[in-house]
Amino acid sequence: MRWGSLRTQLTILSFAVTLVAILAVLFYVTPQLQSSLRDQKMKALTETALVFTPQITRLVRSNGSDDEINNLVSSISDRTNARVTLLAVGDGTEGLQLSIFSDSYTDNRITDLRFEVADVAARTGRTALGEEPSREGELGQVAVPIRDAGTVSRVAVFSAPLADVRGNVALIRRQILTAGALGLLLALVVGFVVSRRIARRVRVLERGADQVASGDFTAVFPAGKDDELGQLAAALDDMQRQLAQLESARRRFIATASHELRTPIFSIGGFLELMEDEELDDETRRQFVATVREQVERLGKLATDLLDLSRLEAGSLELRREETDLGKLTRAVSAEFAPALDKHDSKLELRLGGDRIDAVCDPERVAQVLRILIDNALTHTPAGTAVVVSAARDNGSVRLAVSDDGPGISDAAAQRVFEPFFTSDDAQGSGLGLAIARELAERMDGSLEIDPGRGRTTFALELPA
Ligand SMILES: Nc1ncnc2c1ncn2[C@@H]1O[C@H](COP(=O)(O)OP(=O)(O)O)[C@@H](O)[C@H]1O
Ligand SMILES: [Mg+2]
Repeated sequence: MRWGSLRTQLTILSFAVTLVAILAVLFYVTPQLQSSLRDQKMKALTETALVFTPQITRLVRSNGSDDEINNLVSSISDRTNARVTLLAVGDGTEGLQLSIFSDSYTDNRITDLRFEVADVAARTGRTALGEEPSREGELGQVAVPIRDAGTVSRVAVFSAPLADVRGNVALIRRQILTAGALGLLLALVVGFVVSRRIARRVRVLERGADQVASGDFTAVFPAGKDDELGQLAAALDDMQRQLAQLESARRRFIATASHELRTPIFSIGGFLELMEDEELDDETRRQFVATVREQVERLGKLATDLLDLSRLEAGSLELRREETDLGKLTRAVSAEFAPALDKHDSKLELRLGGDRIDAVCDPERVAQVLRILIDNALTHTPAGTAVVVSAARDNGSVRLAVSDDGPGISDAAAQRVFEPFFTSDDAQGSGLGLAIARELAERMDGSLEIDPGRGRTTFALELPA
């Protein structure tokens, strides 16, 4: 049993909460119960005293005999279950003097009580309440003054034991303690069982997470109930799925990249072998050299593209931010393509909205995106295809678009053109151009979208102005 473990903490917590509840009942509720029970008892005693005293008053005023008074006192005591004491009030040397006149207690302990409440009642002329210890325990007392010809001549004291209140409360307290002990035991057991179940679920999730961390994406995260742990399990499952996707994308990328690199290298190797042949005529040799150069160029471009892409994805590519006239930039990049357009028998039309189209961006990177788009519009379309390059401000952003009236792209292919290495025709490209272009656009807080219409393909780069 580890002290820091979830299981121990939860068990201790449930135990502690129960303990606090029991202590609160013991030390806060039971004293209140005791005093309210005592108050109730005193109230009942007072009512009894007030109901029965007038009978004594009447007898005293009508000068009843001692026997008559004794009889009345003991009959009231019988009916009320209280000890009834009648005290006579006389004038002594030190003020009022009270002496017991009649008592329902007939045994010889008649002088065991001091009846201080009676003094109070005689002096103030009002009903007085008090307590006095006795051999049978605490007594509650109510003293009612009896007036005869205007002065207080007698005091009737009703006494009843309060000890049973204390006894009752003690009993209740004992029962609370017993129930509390049971409750604590139950809290311990329930806390232990519940926390063990929770700890077990957490451990399963932990094991699954370890499995994922070690590269095994077949971990099972049982959702169980729809509580926080269930949600955590679902989140972990989601994470596992995404990691698995990333991992398979990574593998695919490496496999494709190495394949793309190997093809031209083998081709170059083959041609070099052929060229070692002494018998080769000059013309063939020149052709071979040209092919090898082409392959080397392709390889170089592929290496540059791969490097760009990996830098972009790692976020280590530094972007400049400067005020740029995109109209001028578009014109310059389009001009670079004059020879390629010539070869492809195509015309490029520039549509610039306004004299200056200013934006804060990295001009080198925007030019790179434009080059990729114009290059595609020429390489993936038949000869003679017209290309339109436009630049315009579009409320709050700048839109650069390259469109061609080539055969277009199928919807299925359009979904995938931005994936690295995706090529849908045999134009011998590496399929990295659009992947790089989109990464660049996103790094510049812009976007690159395709509009694959039939007979017209448009790629649009949007940048914040
Ligand atoms: N203007 C276009 N017209 C038709 N197809 C295009 C166009 N631009 C791109 N594509 C398609 O998208 C694919 C991916 O383009 P890209 O990422 O630049 O790679 P690459 O040009 O090396 O093939 C191309 O192989 C081509 O099939
Ligand atoms: Mg391309």
